[in-house]
Amino acid sequence: MATIHQLFSAGAETTVTTLRWSLLYMMAYPEIQGRIQREIDDVVGRNRLPNYSDREHLPYTEATLMEIARIASIAPFGIPHVAAQNTTLFGYNIPEETIIMSNIWAIHNDPDTWKDPDMFRPERFLDGDRLAKQPDAYLPFSAGRRVCLGENLARIELFLFFSHCLHRFTFKKPQDSPELSFDGVAGAANSPRFYETEAILRD
Ligand code: HEM
Repeated sequence: MATIHQLFSAGAETTVTTLRWSLLYMMAYPEIQGRIQREIDDVVGRNRLPNYSDREHLPYTEATLMEIARIASIAPFGIPHVAAQNTTLFGYNIPEETIIMSNIWAIHNDPDTWKDPDMFRPERFLDGDRLAKQPDAYLPFSAGRRVCLGENLARIELFLFFSHCLHRFTFKKPQDSPELSFDGVAGAANSPRFYETEAILRD
């Protein structure tokens, strides 16, 4: 029961939170939203929804999802771990049973790695018209033996939900709705604040 519960909580909350950040960024950056829609229209057309095999032909869409995962860093400190034995790392002594947390947020915002880390810029994941080699410092799913178990599933889900949403709708901030905020709310995941959106059906 606990295992099934963890699969749902680790699996659902994370993906939903990433999608909530995605729509927020699409409302804030309509030119990026429009470029994704043009890419999907060119590759997929208007007569069917995108499927997973389209992904390799939609580099800008994929780069945008990667940039959302970087800038939102929904698991900013990963999941705590415990040192199984006394060890040293870069000259630091780490006693057995020390709780260790990885600062994924800092890795994703390090100005030595990412130019203007505060800027939302999908192009940073592109090399010309294609996806660039994934930078070592891109770690939304962490790394190593305890890397996220659901990474592949999450990538598929995010691609399909996001591309389907933008294929069918344009997301717009409703008139007179509160200013968009990019401050995260700490909880099970780093979530966006509640916001209103207007989903306008595309032709
Ligand atoms: C956007 C989606 C997701 C993100 C950003 C994410 C991120 C992470 C991160 C950072 C960790 C910690 C890894 C570590 O301890 O170093 C983790 C662990 C884990 N994730 Fe995900 N995750 C996502 C989706 C999912 C999905 C869809 C599932 C399952 C259906 C899942 C299941 C798990 C499990 C079981 C662990 C613990 C793995 C272990 O300790 O061995 N996650 N995830």
